[in-house]
Amino acid sequence: MSEIDSIRSQVISCIKCSLSKTRTNAVPGKGNFKAEILFIGEAPGRNEDLKGEPFVGSAGNILSEALASSGLSRDDVYITNVVKCRPPNNRIPLQEEKESCQPYLSKELEIIKPKIICIMGNTAYGSLLGGDSIIKNRGKIVEKDGQRYFLTVHPAAAIYNPELKSVLKSDMKSLVETLDRLKKDENLVKTQ
Ligand code: URA
Ligand code: SF4
Repeated sequence: MSEIDSIRSQVISCIKCSLSKTRTNAVPGKGNFKAEILFIGEAPGRNEDLKGEPFVGSAGNILSEALASSGLSRDDVYITNVVKCRPPNNRIPLQEEKESCQPYLSKELEIIKPKIICIMGNTAYGSLLGGDSIIKNRGKIVEKDGQRYFLTVHPAAAIYNPELKSVLKSDMKSLVETLDRLKKDENLVKTQ
């Protein structure tokens, strides 16, 4: 079994926090395990809980559209969440739930080693970087402990505020440009 499949099966049968009691299905990350970009959302919603896959509801459609507008398909990237089980009524995950689930995210990052992590929304921003206002900081690139991060809004926020759809699209464009720039710089170093 590949390392990523082993995380998947651990997540699927996990009972480390009380979200395991209310979920239908746990939702492991999904996508290309050789991806250069890894996206992190908050937690599964209703559709994700029913299907056992991340970002398959309205927020997922908005995300797919934004990715496509920058020439990315979901098969090019890897998509996961801070917590892998749906919180009741989609409430924000509690500190203890985020902490219990954290080792799975760390493992995903360790295996995939993305060149850039795209943080979507406040929960992921807080969990990974200790930030608290994604709307003020979106579009920024952050470097921490040798890892690069790109900050953007959560696609679900665009369901009720459609202006954020174009914000997300323009952020995806700068994300792809940032990645291209990183790769060019790496090649430059290699050939020097
Ligand atoms: N919102 C999230 O944060 N993650 C999902 O998988 C779906 C909606
Ligand atoms: Fe396990 Fe994470 Fe689900 Fe909690 S949210 S039961 S820690 S997989």
